[in-house]
Amino acid sequence: MIELNKEYKDKLKGIKFIDLFCGLGGFRLALESFGAECVFSSDIDKNVSKTYFDNFNDNCLNDITKTEAVEIPSHNILCGGFPCQAFSIGGYKKGFDDERGVLFLDIIRIAKYHLPELLFLENVKGLVEHDEGKTFKIIVDCLEDLGYNVYTKVLNSKYFDVPQSRERIYFICIRQDIDNKTFEFPKETKINKTIKDILLSSDEIKENLFIDRERCHLNHKYTNNNLFDTEEKRLLVAGYNGIKDHNNNRIYYADGLFCTYTKSTGSTNNGGGIVLNNKVRRLQKREVMRLFGFPDSYKIDYSHYKICQQAGNSVVVNVIQSIIKNLIDTKAIKSYHKFNIK
Ligand SMILES: C[S@@+](CC[C@H](N)C(=O)[O-])C[C@H]1O[C@@H](n2cnc3c(N)ncnc32)[C@H](O)[C@@H]1O
Repeated sequence: MIELNKEYKDKLKGIKFIDLFCGLGGFRLALESFGAECVFSSDIDKNVSKTYFDNFNDNCLNDITKTEAVEIPSHNILCGGFPCQAFSIGGYKKGFDDERGVLFLDIIRIAKYHLPELLFLENVKGLVEHDEGKTFKIIVDCLEDLGYNVYTKVLNSKYFDVPQSRERIYFICIRQDIDNKTFEFPKETKINKTIKDILLSSDEIKENLFIDRERCHLNHKYTNNNLFDTEEKRLLVAGYNGIKDHNNNRIYYADGLFCTYTKSTGSTNNGGGIVLNNKVRRLQKREVMRLFGFPDSYKIDYSHYKICQQAGNSVVVNVIQSIIKNLIDTKAIKSYHKFNIK
């Protein structure tokens, strides 16, 4: 997480938000750090909801498709990293009468009823190009039709003080009547952290996370330059674990960055890792949470494997905080009866 100056800590005091598709609560941690209050959260995954409960003392376990908008308390901000695979043009074409399986349309349904001042959405970068850009266009059109100005940008978390290269598309949708039209996304400036900065000391690691060197193909000669971050050459790929070279089972040098951590990166069979002092190991679950900007006070009582799986879907808290900070700094939202940013 970004350590906020005192002046920001109660900037969103009195502001209520809902945390849809909440996962581990990355949006929630970010918004709460500015003093906002969560009034409703939702996730269908039992394991995720247990970790969420441990941390926020809030039961988020519900299926949003079965929740009527009227049952959700009114709020100023709707957040959601909605599942991407569920959105299909086919579903949209059937119209709003058939919302089964099209979870983005649940966001639209809830937003249409409550018309919060701000919608803050997140998704994978691939959404932008999906179906030659048609899916993305439909999403933006839907949000504009509801009366929002939609600002979007792909941001990479590596510029936000976490050593993970993770590109995601962010949507800031400001209700038109309160939009000052001054919003700008934060700039991607400098990489400040490498994997070494998030590692535990060896005596803090109780699990056996070492990967048999026999399984690893180190000093693998890569011919495909795309494997590297060409701009900064900071994804330092040392090789891979298992029988097949794939993004999810690469081994990285600890003085570089980790690639996009996904559910499979944390897998017990192949899965990615780091090479440090000539040994290869997986990241411990606390280190994985640090890759996403979660503070060490965040409780992760589940097994290594389950926590890594849960983390693979998460937003990076620092990026969400930086975007909120820019919303405040650019005075993007006009003073409004409920949304009165000081
Ligand atoms: C891409 S993840 C978002 C994770 C979250 N943004 C985070 O930072 O951890 C999507 C989440 O939506 C949840 N989900 C899928 N279908 C759902 C439904 N019908 N109702 C509520 N949550 C659902 C999944 O369990 C998953 O945790």
